[in-house]
Amino acid sequence: MERRSLRNQKLVVASHNPGKIREIGELLGPYGVEAVSAGSLGLSEPEETGTTFEANAQLKSEASARGSGLVALADDSGLCVDALNGDPGLHSARWAGPSRDFALAMRNVEEKLQAQGATSPSLRRAHFVSVLSVAWPDGHVENFRGEVYGTLVWPPRGSYGFGYDPMFLPDGHEQTFGEMDPDAKHAISHRAVAFRKLVDALF
Ligand code: IMP
Repeated sequence: MERRSLRNQKLVVASHNPGKIREIGELLGPYGVEAVSAGSLGLSEPEETGTTFEANAQLKSEASARGSGLVALADDSGLCVDALNGDPGLHSARWAGPSRDFALAMRNVEEKLQAQGATSPSLRRAHFVSVLSVAWPDGHVENFRGEVYGTLVWPPRGSYGFGYDPMFLPDGHEQTFGEMDPDAKHAISHRAVAFRKLVDALF
């Protein structure tokens, strides 16, 4: 198979989530890629009808590549909680409601954990998943998956990051993703793991 490269490419970041766009921009920064957001090109977001992170990431990257004629990068990600059978998972954004209220989404997770008596760390295992999908206008697609494992704390701690970061304590660390400065999160996060695979394959 022909090896594709993103070097010196203009890339559309197929997301309308400001937290994700910022993190993807920070990850791409050192590689000299010119990144523009799907929103700034007036591209709408497709419905996430897939049943896997891979399928949803690919729906988004393909729609943006088709709509813009540029190479497009999408992320589909979420928090999977063991005691909740993997929820909120693919529905992580939806749990925050239409106003994207993540204090509410985190309380919702905590209430469900409490209802199960999940008070000790071993019963509060969770992982974040990120699938980065790169789609070219000619229809070629490559996907990269990253995961990071940890436990959920309550109450939430810290105001860095976004989404469920303040309640996620990665294994081997004493600070939640909400307390870590962005560089520390980028060294270990699910998105960073996926991104390293992408860089190995496409730069
Ligand atoms: P989607 O990929 O746009 O469907 O939404 C993913 C959702 O998962 C985000 O809105 C966040 O709620 C959550 N999520 C994904 N990555 C992170 C992260 O790095 N920190 C905290 N929450 C995240």
